[in-house]
Amino acid sequence: MTVHFIGAGPGAADLLTLRGRDLIAACPVCLYAGSLVPQGVLAHCPKDARIVNTAPLSLDDIMSEIVAAHHKGKDVARLHSGDLSIWSAMGEQLRRLRALQISYSITPGVPAFSAAAAAIEAELTLPGLVQSVVLTRMPGRASVMPKGEKLATFAATGAVLAIHLSIHLLSRVIDELTPHYGGDCPVAIVWRASWPDQRIIRATLGTLDSAVSTELERTAVILVGRTLGSEDFGESRLYAVDYDRRYRPLGPTPRFPEGS
Ligand SMILES: C[S@@+](CC[C@H](N)C(=O)[O-])C[C@H]1O[C@@H](n2cnc3c(N)ncnc32)[C@H](O)[C@@H]1O
Repeated sequence: MTVHFIGAGPGAADLLTLRGRDLIAACPVCLYAGSLVPQGVLAHCPKDARIVNTAPLSLDDIMSEIVAAHHKGKDVARLHSGDLSIWSAMGEQLRRLRALQISYSITPGVPAFSAAAAAIEAELTLPGLVQSVVLTRMPGRASVMPKGEKLATFAATGAVLAIHLSIHLLSRVIDELTPHYGGDCPVAIVWRASWPDQRIIRATLGTLDSAVSTELERTAVILVGRTLGSEDFGESRLYAVDYDRRYRPLGPTPRFPEGS
């Protein structure tokens, strides 16, 4: 018996890996994390599968479901939105499974920040402008931020910020970032990226009306950084005609011999 953790993607049911789909189809039990996992993904479950929304459950309740499936020898598909490596609460479940010696597998998914970047048609890292992306959040009711992880600290690097779980604190986000990025720095808010009702708001830190946060409840990523909407950047050296590389060597003596 195995618990298969599967990243269910940002919302669109076809933004699911083939491996994730096949595992869901093979598991007689499916535990999914609330409203962010779309019905279209759950449609891959076998007809007679036990399908449980874990949103109203405690960690103990979730573990009881898993242990019950374990006793019956039934594999479990455990779905979380986006990818599992960020804000999925997978870590605490894995720790309990290790203690119980129940085996598990992990299948990544498309994270919300990637879906948001796709929605605004942006490469977040552009040559000469920005080469780092910080995935972060503001402190929440259930989550204290570690001391060093302040928005202003990340902002001081000039990296693109992908701010999650914080749309309700938009005015604070604007206040903390403006001194570092400047009022003309582009911002994009992508609400429910890849869902049919997706919405995009583009502005700058100076023009963004924080009141939009009351319309766009909860499921939004706030992207801030100089690459958003920019046409003023260099081209990647990788594809430059004069760049010597393994797959496009310049001259008769390859610098990267076969097998090196
Ligand atoms: C609990 S976290 C889950 C993150 C997820 N594990 C991921 O890989 O993106 C929930 C937050 O992710 C963001 N989010 C999730 N799905 C989204 C979507 N479709 N569009 C925009 N933001 C989304 C929002 O910031 C939301 O508050």
